Formats: sequence, structure tokens, C-alpha cells
Amino acid sequence: MLTGCQHGRNGRFLYLAPDMNKEIVVSGIRSTGFLHLGNYFGAIHNYVKMQQDYNCYFFVADYHSLTTHPDPKDLKENVYRVVAENIASGIDPEKAALYAQSDVPEIPELYLILNMLAYKGELEKVPTFKDKVRLSPNNVNAGLLTYPVLMAADILIHRAVKVPVGKDQEQHLEMARNFAVRFNSRYGDFFPEPNVFRFDQNTVKIMSLDGEGKMSKSENTNATIFLSDDDDTIRKKIMKAKTDSGPTAPDSEMPEYIQNLFLLMHMVSKPEVTDTFRSAFNNCHIRYGDMKKQLAEDMVAFVKPIREKAAELQKDEAQIKRILRNGAEKARASAAETIAGARKLIGINYY
Ligand code: TYM
Repeated sequence: MLTGCQHGRNGRFLYLAPDMNKEIVVSGIRSTGFLHLGNYFGAIHNYVKMQQDYNCYFFVADYHSLTTHPDPKDLKENVYRVVAENIASGIDPEKAALYAQSDVPEIPELYLILNMLAYKGELEKVPTFKDKVRLSPNNVNAGLLTYPVLMAADILIHRAVKVPVGKDQEQHLEMARNFAVRFNSRYGDFFPEPNVFRFDQNTVKIMSLDGEGKMSKSENTNATIFLSDDDDTIRKKIMKAKTDSGPTAPDSEMPEYIQNLFLLMHMVSKPEVTDTFRSAFNNCHIRYGDMKKQLAEDMVAFVKPIREKAAELQKDEAQIKRILRNGAEKARASAAETIAGARKLIGINYY
């Protein structure tokens, strides 16, 4: 069966039926700020590799972003930027459905249904919820508490089996599996259990360049490299990355912040370049200044085409609108089928 879409006479994409033999993949990114290397290597990098061989649904999690009450006038620009940055990173909207979460009303419907199977106690124990409570004690809203339920609805609405995400989302995936199992045991087998997916097995965590926690859209922005950063900003941020005076014994264990620099180098530099610096580390003559200079240049070369393409796309509102509309159409077709099946099993089936 054919998949993807073709251009119709009026210039709109015409979606063809998804290939039923392909496994279903779902993942999302919140529209809360600029995308960074953590988003890229933790998630988008895998999306790009998966879009050919899987039936992919990638979305902008704009409802999730409402937990922190963004200014309404910023929302559209933020959503458009995430779409543009995804495409500039290699997502092909003709292969994968790329849509806004709020364009698929079946998601909040499933969220409501799953909320009946989610317990306050388990939601309060989620580490990301506890962090939010600690950081913003005056904004502990119910949306924050039920964040993992909405995430489960995002995934289960397409009955996905694979979810490419970074390490920070593993616990949320475990909850999505629990909700799927609970639904199935109450109403009958319906949802497959979704699993975290990465090509190279380990889920990635990109640390902040100052060695303090993970790279994030909102914290330590001077130690986060954004896909929109210009060349000089990238160089400056990398040259300021945390290092130390180097190992004093051969084959020492690497501190996490040095491992992080090697991980980034592994992602953007030639293998022989990374090998040279790794041997220098193991032999105790590494010069971190040289390593950072090399990494900065390789990172500039890596980010530049993404930044330029995303900026160009963002100027083309008509194109972004078309992509979102077509992505929503494809996502809704799949979501409507799931909701119909779930309603029937629950007994919401009156006519
Ligand atoms: P968000 O928007 O925080 O991040 C989007 C993706 O980027 C990954 N990521 C990282 N990976 C490695 N290192 C980092 N420093 C790093 N920072 C972010 C995240 O793991 C994620 O894959 N709740 C989700 C959005 C979401 C979602 C979903 C994801 C909503 N519904 C359903 C998958 C399926 C979030 O806030 O991601």
C-alpha cells in the first residue's frame, strides 16, 4: 500500500492511506521556547531516521505548554518555530504527519477517559511533577499534575508502539504503559504498550555545558546551544563549557561534564577527531582548549544549515499552515478510529 501524500490539483497535499504493515511511532515537543541540542539529539535525530520505515506522528505539544501559562500572543510564533525547526532538521512532512496537538480534539477526549484510570497518589510521586512544585510552588495546577496522562493520551490515541524521546521522558512512558494496561484490563485488549525507542539502545541525555543538570529550553540558557544560535554565540558557549585541569592518571574515569563534551563531539565531528581527543584524555595530555575549539567549529558547521533553513521556513507562513493542516488531517483520521474503538469498549455507544 502507498503511504505519504501527493500534491493535488489545488496545491494541497493528498494523504494516502498509511501503510498498515508499518509500526506506529509518536513523539512530541512542547512549544515553550527555542529547540536545543538536547531536543535534537534526544528526539529529532531519531524522528528523522524513523520517518522512512515507520508510520510516524510527530506533533507540537501546545496544550502541554499551557501548564506554564504562556502569553497568548507568543503561542503561534512558538508553534510555527517548532514546526520550522523540525523540518529544517530533516523531518519530511510528506512522510510523517506533523501537527499541533490542539488540532486533534480526540486527544483531550482520551485524556479525560484516561484520567479516570489515573490516581492522585501516583501522579504526585512523578519526579517531574515534584520538580515543578519545588520550582513554582504558586502554580501547582491540575494540568501539571495530570501532565503524564495527557502525554499517555498523545501516544495511545494512535496506538503507537515506539516513542523516540530523551532520557528525561522515560518515567512518563512507563506511566503511559500503566494506563494502557489498566484500560485493557478493565475494558478489553485495545492499546498496545508503548516503549521508548532509540536506534543505539541507550536513551540520550545532553547535559548543560556548565555541568549543572540537563540542557533545557528555560534553565541555564547560556550553557544551552539552541538550533537558532548564531556562529559566534555557539563558539562562545562552547569555549565557556565546564572543564578542569585534566586527568592525572592514565585511563581515568571521565567526569560527566567531560563525557558530555565527548558525546557532542561524537555527534558532530569526524570519528577520527573524537578518537584523537579520547586517546589524549586516556594518556593524560588532553588540552581542553583545543578540544573545545575543534568542537565549536564542528558544531557551527552542524547548526548553521538547520538555523538558516528554519529561519527561511518561518517566513513562509502559508507553507507552515499547509503542513499543519495536512498533518492534523492525517492525525485526526487515526485518532478518530481509536476514540471510536475506546468509546465502544467503555459502553459509550448509544445510537
Ligand atoms: P520537551 O519539549 O521537553 O522535549 C522534547 C524532546 O527532547 C528531549 N530532550 C532531551 N533529550 C536529551 N537531553 C536533553 N537535555 C533533553 N531535553 C529535552 C525530550 O526527552 C523529548 O523527547 N513531555 C514532552 C513532550 C510530549 C511528548 C508527548 C513526548 C508531550 N506528549 C508524547 C513524547 C510522546 C516534553 O516536554 O518534551
